[in-house]
Amino acid sequence: MKRIAIFASGSGSNAENIYKHFSTSKGGQISLILSENPNSFVLERAKTMKIPFRVFSMSELQDGKVKEVLEAYAIDFIVLAGFLKRIPHYLIDNYPNRIVNIHPALLPKFGGKGMYGMNVHQAVLDAGDTETGITIHWVNNNYDEGDIIFQARCQVSPHDTVESIAEKVHALEYEHFPRVIDSLL
Ligand code: GRF
Repeated sequence: MKRIAIFASGSGSNAENIYKHFSTSKGGQISLILSENPNSFVLERAKTMKIPFRVFSMSELQDGKVKEVLEAYAIDFIVLAGFLKRIPHYLIDNYPNRIVNIHPALLPKFGGKGMYGMNVHQAVLDAGDTETGITIHWVNNNYDEGDIIFQARCQVSPHDTVESIAEKVHALEYEHFPRVIDSLL
């Protein structure tokens, strides 16, 4: 069974949803939750789900400490689920094709610097696009530019708001992300 670590910076609803999937799937288990944000709600979820968790500083992410933690937990596969920091090159090199991210839009549109959270949905609205969605992709050394593994789409209507788009995108994330991770393990 593959041991999965989830990196998350915020609410962690995807982390919880992925955890639920793997509590009944035999392919993997969520072995560790990591965050750079000591106030993130994902840590409360980790406590409730009884998953080990660690908070790290940005210097610990850069200087190899996070790699040591991943090794201590024998992590095979890394999932970024609402993680807002850049993964350093050394970690990417240590987990080749074993780090996936989810982006709440249809890359290559609305990716790159500053494109996270509600900024993404606002940009979709500002552009007047009639569809958006999710992109699950491998993580490489450039933000949001790794090879695309999977995309799913939803409609954007003139009545949509940033909040209503976020809701539709989250629904797609919950439906597809655990299943896609499972298929990659
Ligand atoms: C998700 O929409 C994800 O795509 C984005 O950040 C959001 C995280 O939501 N990168 P949550 O913390 O899983 O609730």
